[in-house]
Amino acid sequence: MTDRFAFRLLARDGAARRGEIRTPHGTVQTPAFMPVGTQGTVKAMYPEQVRALGSDVVLGNTYHLMLRPTAERVARLGGLHKFMNWPHTILTDSGGFQVMSLAQLRKLTENGVTFQSHVDGSRHEMTPERSVEIQQLLGSDIQMQLDECIALPAARDDVERAMRLSLRWAERSRRKFEEMGGPERGQALYGIVQGGDVPDLRVISATELGAMPFEGYSVGGLAVGEPQDVMLRMLEETTPAMPEDKPRYLMGVGTPEDILESVARGIDQFDCVMPTRAGRHGLAYTRFGKVNLKNARHAEDHRPLDEEAECPAARDYSRAYLHHLVKAGEGLAAMLLTWNNLAYYQSLMKGIREAIEAGRFEDFRNETRENWARGDI
Ligand code: GUN
Repeated sequence: MTDRFAFRLLARDGAARRGEIRTPHGTVQTPAFMPVGTQGTVKAMYPEQVRALGSDVVLGNTYHLMLRPTAERVARLGGLHKFMNWPHTILTDSGGFQVMSLAQLRKLTENGVTFQSHVDGSRHEMTPERSVEIQQLLGSDIQMQLDECIALPAARDDVERAMRLSLRWAERSRRKFEEMGGPERGQALYGIVQGGDVPDLRVISATELGAMPFEGYSVGGLAVGEPQDVMLRMLEETTPAMPEDKPRYLMGVGTPEDILESVARGIDQFDCVMPTRAGRHGLAYTRFGKVNLKNARHAEDHRPLDEEAECPAARDYSRAYLHHLVKAGEGLAAMLLTWNNLAYYQSLMKGIREAIEAGRFEDFRNETRENWARGDI
């Protein structure tokens, strides 16, 4: 038997936590940022580069991979780790969220959701059981239950209905995961807390999921159109109701500021398309905030994005050259800016981890915020 999935808390500073997750494909240092590799690739990056930046885990998506190239094909080719040449930890989302945002002609019932593929119009059914089966075919180390993420604003009754459905789907997902031998293979299945912007529904969801034997817990249904202060307030309500000894993953979040503030509220894992997507759209993240390289003010600027950065993309290329590449629509623009952005995100996470260990997270948070507020000059 493989070693079981394990989470160890190494240090705490206020509500912030420093930990370590062990999976069959390695150790994940937390708080962790997990680059998004939806289609089996972190767009515009080599896997070796993603790893060299300090990423311990990347994300894959059930929804995209089941449609193309199909989970069965990935399984025949030896699983997702081998297929994408990422021998480290992989986390997969369950598909529910992507079905709701990408697929057409969706129909949601107690049993699951039927939908039409955005790729070729073919019809599919996703149930809690099928989602686990797909994640098993992919060989994912950290799997997610199928859930319903409701868009905000929404009426309390609708939020409650989606939250209760997600709880019933959590039970069905867990049963299937155990039937398929996930725990024996050292894999993890996370339950997903829903409840929109209604504090008592969040607490019910977290408490009921906490009573089920998941290896970790996600916070879903946030960063779906609500203001940042609402999201942070929901975290303040939610994390105290979540098990202390299990990892907590805030799904789809966020900006560097969202991450810093969420760590301060007890979150351990994050994923977001922000650094990679922004990189493909001419936007760079730096210690001093965002730099829009489309802007003509960079056209003759000799300076790199950050001469003190370790990342060559930030240190060795002038803003003038990056501006030119962005304006010319060159592939290298996306490659360099994605590299810069992921490097910045991972250096932020490293700073967060070291600060929690040293018991100086509050100072780190203030210094980081001051640098962002100074702006890029
Ligand atoms: N990604 C971002 N938010 C969510 C959510 O609420 N559920 C799932 N499954 N994935 C997400």
